[in-house]
Amino acid sequence: MKYSIKVGAADKINSDCIAVVVWNKGGLSEEAQLADKVSNKGISKIVRSEDFTGTLGQTHIVYNPIGLKSKRLLLIGGGEIKKLDAKNASRMLTAGLKAVFASNAASVHFAVASLNVKDETPAWVCQRLAQEAETASYRYNTTKSTKSKAVSANLISVSPSKGARRKSLEEALKSGSAIGAGINRARHLGNLPGNICTPSYLADEAAAIGNKHSSMKVKILGEKQMSRLKMGSLLSVSAGSAEEAKLIVMEYKGAKADSKPHVLVGKGVTFDTGGISLKGGGGMDEMKFDMCGAASVIGVMATVAQLKLPINIVGLVGAVENMPSSTATKPGDIVMSMAGKTIEVLNTDAEGRLVLCDVLTYAERYQPRSVIDIATLTGAAVATFGSHVSALLSNDDKLTEELIDCGKRSLDRVWPLPLWEEYQPLLNSNFADIANIGGPRAGTITAACFLSRFAEKFKWAHLDIAGSAWHSGAQKGATGRPVALLVEYLSQQKA
Ligand code: BES
Ligand code: MN
Ligand code: ZN
Repeated sequence: MKYSIKVGAADKINSDCIAVVVWNKGGLSEEAQLADKVSNKGISKIVRSEDFTGTLGQTHIVYNPIGLKSKRLLLIGGGEIKKLDAKNASRMLTAGLKAVFASNAASVHFAVASLNVKDETPAWVCQRLAQEAETASYRYNTTKSTKSKAVSANLISVSPSKGARRKSLEEALKSGSAIGAGINRARHLGNLPGNICTPSYLADEAAAIGNKHSSMKVKILGEKQMSRLKMGSLLSVSAGSAEEAKLIVMEYKGAKADSKPHVLVGKGVTFDTGGISLKGGGGMDEMKFDMCGAASVIGVMATVAQLKLPINIVGLVGAVENMPSSTATKPGDIVMSMAGKTIEVLNTDAEGRLVLCDVLTYAERYQPRSVIDIATLTGAAVATFGSHVSALLSNDDKLTEELIDCGKRSLDRVWPLPLWEEYQPLLNSNFADIANIGGPRAGTITAACFLSRFAEKFKWAHLDIAGSAWHSGAQKGATGRPVALLVEYLSQQKA
């Protein structure tokens, strides 16, 4: 998709489709008023017919509109003008894009210069539009014989908002499109089946991104190198699998070489059978999504390289497959983590934390400014939050606030759970320094407590995306969350 800022009154724009906003009960935006005037009250008539009344997300296409140069006029319902915040604006844009993408229009112009979104700038609108245009045109085709048709539109233009610098709007369109591409990359990796998207596949994907950008160096460590590093906990998860585990290291340099980086750590369990603590059969296919944390890290790294963010960032992925076999780790086995703490594996299905703890220890070498791990870690997070928000647990209150705020702006929200020390004793073990499960209660918190023992040397946040990373049911598929949140967070950091 191509994006541009295009100057001109709504009636002079020559596009396959021009989109204007109509408010609830037929209040016309400036651009809609102009279109109404040149079309002999064409819009007013539609509103009076009540076919279209401007409720939020409603759309209506008029073909060959009178008085306009464009072939189609798309009316988008904006809902109540006073309630136009980031969330509603996004719903409106989503609906508008869906309507154009369902048509054969090859180009679309959004005449939304007069739009005023609460707490957000015109640049935000441009960024969001481009991001959503990218994500709305994603199609999964890899393993289908009949490929779904790509959207017809290949050009999206926007009117320049009054008072906004054209350059900043163009930049916003570029970042939105890079974020959308990062989201789609994460979705795609998530959607690929476990027999394609193996640890080696994730490693190749990361390496390909490294080859594309001179600012990015990618290293892949195999099992031999990881045993030399004494990553006994991570390796215990892949012990039962024929697929070799990989530690993927992506180092992006957008600032001076000695500027300390921010580190992202992704859980990359390319399939989670539960291991010897085997999961039940129902819905087990969805455990191919257990690498969505890793996918989000890879997506973010591709995006930040494209955006040339002026900071240093390291993306780390622990990629493993969790399988039962005669060589698999058994309940009761005790493994030695890279940090030197022994772990009693009471349940081989609590494998994500076993992977992450060694990768967190690996992260220490960077003396990071912050570390954020992203993981589909617990079913309890799904029970607590459902799919709308990712769970956030952190050892730093300021980082918590920052992430909540970035979540609101990116509409990729997170919400905190307590990481109080009262929960820590649930992880006591009679035979090792720590057990890998904390019993049936407070599962998301005890999982984070486990990780916190390996995150004492830096500012750290843990995002449990078990509920937000994919949709189940008829719309089954990865969401690409929390790529947008993380890019927002990193964009706000300074070297
Ligand atoms: N990948 C799962 C978590 C999960 C389950 C995410 C269902 C989304 C939907 C994780 O590895 C796991 O199995 N966690 C266990 C931990 C338990 C054994 C302490 C869980 O949540 O049941
Ligand atoms: Mn598991
Ligand atoms: Zn898992």
